[in-house]
Amino acid sequence: MILVTGAGGEIGQSLIAALAERGEELLAVDLRPLPNDTAALCAETITADICSAELHAQLRRKPIRTIFHLAAILSSQAEREPELAHRVNVEGTLLLLQTAHYLGKQHRAPVLFLFPSSIAVYGLPSREEKLRVGKVSEEQFLTPMTIYGASKLYCELLGQYYARYYRRLADEVESGWIDFRALRFPGLLSAFTRPTGGTSDYAPEMVHAAAEGKPYDCFVTPDTWLPFMAMPDAIRALLLLATAPAERLRRTAYNVTAFSVSAATIAELVAELFPGAQIQFRPDPRRQAIVDTWPADIDDSAARSDWDWAPEYDLQRTFTEYLAPNIARRYRLDC
Ligand code: NAD
Ligand code: SER
Repeated sequence: MILVTGAGGEIGQSLIAALAERGEELLAVDLRPLPNDTAALCAETITADICSAELHAQLRRKPIRTIFHLAAILSSQAEREPELAHRVNVEGTLLLLQTAHYLGKQHRAPVLFLFPSSIAVYGLPSREEKLRVGKVSEEQFLTPMTIYGASKLYCELLGQYYARYYRRLADEVESGWIDFRALRFPGLLSAFTRPTGGTSDYAPEMVHAAAEGKPYDCFVTPDTWLPFMAMPDAIRALLLLATAPAERLRRTAYNVTAFSVSAATIAELVAELFPGAQIQFRPDPRRQAIVDTWPADIDDSAARSDWDWAPEYDLQRTFTEYLAPNIARRYRLDC
């Protein structure tokens, strides 16, 4: 059985569809009830807080072998509610690692634990430095300025600790019951869901607003650069890493990306695909300050060499073959 937490979110809904297509038995957990079509693909759904003791007691009775732990508070919401973000992102992850460790011991087999981390773990010192350094590798600039980035970086280390060192001194036999693997995602672009609470959300928001014929105020400047990826590639990356042979993995956390693009170029592409799109740039200083510390691009060569990662959607293909047709269809149907 595969457990997906945060299953009702953007990644969760797409991941559940992909796992169901593979015939997997799925247990979905989210704070909110899942959309009906997602729930229908799961053997069981539980509506609960990832920090609830009752939930973990329930999970410990299930034959879970793999966990995709997606439940989290994203960066912009986390800055508004830092204590909530710490509770969900850090304490929720700690509780789930303890549950995974327990399940591994019970079944005498490691539990595979996939954790989506983020470019938010990086903290570039200035906008000038960000543009100067270009691609950032996994070990550089690990000084996040947001509670979200700090929580992601800490949870990567926590996962590594549980996988390699937890209780090793106390009992050698008990170590190694979690196979922890993390991905540092760039901003994600989904045609089928709308983001909430993130700081890379300006890109998908521009596209969805244009498709609906609504004006959009972009909250960053036109010359803001970030790396992005289309949702189908994000799901492929998660599934590729999940199935990669352990002996090939040289790291716990891998960068993955598809393309790097400025907000101005996104606005131009959106205007080409949806003539009449009304996009204005009205930067929000707080959100701009966050993206100014995130890298303009990331180096994903380790993922490419260790587990054959390669994106299938570049910038053009993401917009013309994935976003434009699917989003247009979605809003025509919704009207
Ligand atoms: P999302 O906000 O769409 O989904 C998160 C889900 O978690 C939501 O359905 C929410 O209800 C659930 N959740 C929140 N608090 C919870 C709690 N206390 N208990 C149980 N469930 C709770 O986000 P997403 O884009 O699907 O992201 C999923 C994961 O991927 C997150 O960990 C996020 O940090 C990470 N990630 C996302 C992006 C991106 O651009 N979307 C980039 C990098 C990393
Ligand atoms: N895309 C996410 C956010 O903006 C980063 O992980 O919060």
